[in-house]
Amino acid sequence: MQVLLVYTTKTGVTRDIAHMISRKLKTPLCLKCEKDTRAEDLEVFDHVIIGAPLYMGHVRKLMRNFVYKHRDLLKKKHLYMFVVGADHDLDVEKYLRMSFPASVMDHVSVMSHVGGEFRFENASPLGRYIMKTVSEEKMRKDKREVKIKEESIDAFVQGIEHHFKKETDSQD
Ligand SMILES: Cc1cc2nc3c(=O)[nH]c(=O)nc-3n(C[C@H](O)[C@H](O)[C@H](O)COP(=O)(O)O)c2cc1C
Repeated sequence: MQVLLVYTTKTGVTRDIAHMISRKLKTPLCLKCEKDTRAEDLEVFDHVIIGAPLYMGHVRKLMRNFVYKHRDLLKKKHLYMFVVGADHDLDVEKYLRMSFPASVMDHVSVMSHVGGEFRFENASPLGRYIMKTVSEEKMRKDKREVKIKEESIDAFVQGIEHHFKKETDSQD
């Protein structure tokens, strides 16, 4: 079983979550940033996990472009997607469907929102100013702490492992 996890990140949060998933999943996986992943790299894998941070209500543009560019290859794979974002109780499927083509979304077996973080220290001075405005606005609407949700990562990993097992059982 060949597994690729491809992510994009602006301030490093999705990358850290990708590494957590890689440590938790029993099956070894190949971890790559979207800008280092070409069509030839995708060919090798039958399972692809996609890590997608949210910015202004959409998946970050670099990942939207990546999925759109490789949609014909991706729809031949078993797909799993995790969304990284500061909002609470967000409708994961709605956000993913707004960002990615339906032909790809129809092949997603497991999807999850795994929380997020505001990493001021990794933003540029302008980015930090925008982040402060966005985080204050979000805190006004919902006082809950913005953080990576380890329990959601565990549930996501379990969902993937369950799907792997179904796949191997059906091949026996
Ligand atoms: C300008 C800006 C806009 C954001 N918009 C959203 C949003 O629409 N929904 C959400 O849940 N989180 C939003 N966030 C929070 C990010 O998704 C969060 O900081 C995430 O951890 C970033 O991950 P990354 O470092 O991997 O890019 C926003 C953050 C910033 C700075």
